[in-house]
Amino acid sequence: MLFPQGVAIDGATGAVSPATGRYVKKLSALRDLYASPALVDAFIAEHGDVNAYEVIEYRPEGSDICFGTTIMAPGMIGDEYFLTRGHYHAKKDRGETYYTQSGEGLLLLHSRDGEARVVEMRPGICAFIPPEWAHRSVNTGTTPLVFVWMCTIDAGHDYGEVATRGMRQRAVEQDGRPTVVDNPNYAT
Ligand SMILES: [Fe+2]
Repeated sequence: MLFPQGVAIDGATGAVSPATGRYVKKLSALRDLYASPALVDAFIAEHGDVNAYEVIEYRPEGSDICFGTTIMAPGMIGDEYFLTRGHYHAKKDRGETYYTQSGEGLLLLHSRDGEARVVEMRPGICAFIPPEWAHRSVNTGTTPLVFVWMCTIDAGHDYGEVATRGMRQRAVEQDGRPTVVDNPNYAT
């Protein structure tokens, strides 16, 4: 039987208490998602294989919904901001929300039929991610980007399509400002 529970979420650190699980994604695991994997290698040679982001989950067994936090480190690979893997949901009718707690970033999205959108990530903005939109977060700031995600427990992740084809857009620094540009390597 499921019981109600208050879960403490620290908007500054992303700590979730109680949590049911967590994982860390190292920069090396994201190497091939960047425009220049060679620059990822150079970054790791200089700074080590840093934790690019951490996910902390509250996923009660038997529930229909779950939530948690993602804590993204700040950083850049060349002119490209640190990013998450990016995914569609495995279940095609499942959406999600991302409610930013601290830091600043951009949420890159594209739909299966070719639309691309960007949603600003900053405290106070809760992003609506409809079903069948691939989504990737980027940290465009100099501090950790912390956001609360919430979705159905069966939404699942389809990472393969984004890993193979890339995202339609990239977030890069141009003239000192975050700028979204088309990804010339996106495989149509
Ligand atoms: Fe998602």
